[in-house]
Amino acid sequence: MNRENLRNSLLSGLPVMVYDFDGREEEVDMVFYAGSVSWKSVYMLRKEAGGLICYVTGKEEGAKLGLGLITDELRSYQKYSRLVKRPVYGDEPAFAMWVNHMSTRTGISDEDRAKTILELHKTVELLRKDETSAKEKFFNEFMAPGHVPVLLSRGLEKRRGHTELTSSLMEYLGLERSVVIAEMLDERYSMKREKAENFAKSNGIPFITGKEILEVVRVA
Ligand code: 5RP
Ligand code: CA
Ligand code: ZN
Repeated sequence: MNRENLRNSLLSGLPVMVYDFDGREEEVDMVFYAGSVSWKSVYMLRKEAGGLICYVTGKEEGAKLGLGLITDELRSYQKYSRLVKRPVYGDEPAFAMWVNHMSTRTGISDEDRAKTILELHKTVELLRKDETSAKEKFFNEFMAPGHVPVLLSRGLEKRRGHTELTSSLMEYLGLERSVVIAEMLDERYSMKREKAENFAKSNGIPFITGKEILEVVRVA
């Protein structure tokens, strides 16, 4: 993994692909840096990856914006709490909220989702300068439910999903924890790692494994 090349490639709007781990989901996600997203990235995510297009940031960023994990919210409602369960591979989901930016029309087009993602990125970026304004921006400019699921990373010491892998990778590259991801799907099933890796190779997309990410980032 060449840090500088990877950083420049992501900043220029190109994707990377990330495989999690044998024995976990065993899925490959296509990943774009949220600050460099355009409608073309969303188009590529739905045409070439095909999975759920999600925005990812950290749990800390979420907390500063007043956004928590949906599982924690559901637990607090008696009528929904029994819905909180774990999938077969064991991890509690990373979902927080589904949002649209208010400048979108229906929220689903490539253009609309790119706008929502870019504005989410700007909101997270603003946290560094002015937390109060960032929170204001979030609650004034977004509506829920919308068409972009927000996922929050709990950190690799607590969970080892694509949510944590991709946000930690951004941290390692000196970028904002702010990406957009979608699973590579095939007909009927998830795309096998080997096929996804061949796709990456033939399209010049860097392919990174969870194992490689763990080797370079510091896990407390
Ligand atoms: C949202 C998902 C995907 O698996 C995505 O990769 C994020 O989840 P995780 O952190 O569990 O890997 O569930 O479509
Ligand atoms: Ca998942
Ligand atoms: Zn995943």
